Amino acid sequence: MIPWAKPNYYGYEKKYINQALKSTWLSDGKFVKDLENKVCKFVNSKFAISVTSCTSALHLIYLALELKRGNEVIIPGYGYLAAANIALQMGLKPVFVDVDLETFCVTAKNIEKKITSKTKLIVVFNTYGNVCDLDPIIKIAKIKKIPVVEDCAESFGSLYKTKQSGTLSEIGTYSFQATKTITTGEGGMVVTNKDKHFIGRLKAYRNHGVKDKKYYHYLPGHNFRLTNIQAAIGCAQLKKITKIISERKKIYHFYSNLFKNIDGLKLQIFSPKTKPVMWTFAIVLDPKVFTNRDKIIKIMKTKGIETRNGFYSPNRLSLYRGCDTSNLKYSNKLSKNIICLPFFTSLKKKEMEYIAKTLINLKR
Ligand SMILES: Cc1ncc(COP(=O)(O)O)c(C=O)c1O
Repeated sequence: MIPWAKPNYYGYEKKYINQALKSTWLSDGKFVKDLENKVCKFVNSKFAISVTSCTSALHLIYLALELKRGNEVIIPGYGYLAAANIALQMGLKPVFVDVDLETFCVTAKNIEKKITSKTKLIVVFNTYGNVCDLDPIIKIAKIKKIPVVEDCAESFGSLYKTKQSGTLSEIGTYSFQATKTITTGEGGMVVTNKDKHFIGRLKAYRNHGVKDKKYYHYLPGHNFRLTNIQAAIGCAQLKKITKIISERKKIYHFYSNLFKNIDGLKLQIFSPKTKPVMWTFAIVLDPKVFTNRDKIIKIMKTKGIETRNGFYSPNRLSLYRGCDTSNLKYSNKLSKNIICLPFFTSLKKKEMEYIAKTLINLKR
């Protein structure tokens, strides 16, 4: 079976894990600080706060921003809905905004239409590694005095103009889960240029509300601390980030050529302002030309290829029945027609050729 994703090791993982084990610092430790410093330097942010996942990063941000029950949070209608789930958990109201059919990302125009006096946060997703057109989004957010969180779980290393995704607004998040561009198994990071008060709250919520005094709980916090062993893996991965990015780009280009000018399928479009590092290879299938997408996923599996369907748009999930899911035409369309192909740095050209041939043969 060709898996949909597969982590790769680049030479330093075992060495750093052994160093962490030897140090006997298994939870906190040198690698945790190192990873935070290295991510800061790589993305050129003021602060980086490591956490157990991108989901916990989002949760901490909502808490640190002091969002209250009934506050509205703008969330893209197409993408991985961690930001919406945390909003529901906290009694906030996710308000979903349609994405662009070509880039799969939200637009300033669509966001603006859904801003109300209750909007207290805008979350954007850089889906599959693409980066939203952030300048106009940030411009509107500034006028309305609403913070923007760039959820860059899927876009570590992607650039918008010359800046790293996650650093265009004041707050960004990354995921280091096993399928991501760099991994710690599970893990994540908040990057921010915001003030010390915000960072203090983030760190306190990460650590049971404790600041400097041991066992003194200032806030009702979580334990969202990344371990030293996880951070050791992250440091090893980050050391090879240039190679990882270059390999992911090569794979993307090889696939793109295989799917050039094929009737009935469309690839994601990237604006010239972006230099994406792709998380996966997504294709929009035209249901008039291709067999039903879910049937294709099943057939591909019988041929030894693991693929994934697109994200469910919230209008298709009963969980979000009480939320604003109006006008999600394109999110809904993408949700039903996207298939994501295997994408990882050790994927062979022969495997990609086989995957492309198998898919292209599945026309009606
Ligand atoms: C856009 C987005 N946000 C959040 C997450 C959640 O990340 P994690 O698994 O690190 O919690 C993901 C996971 O893929 C994601 O794609």
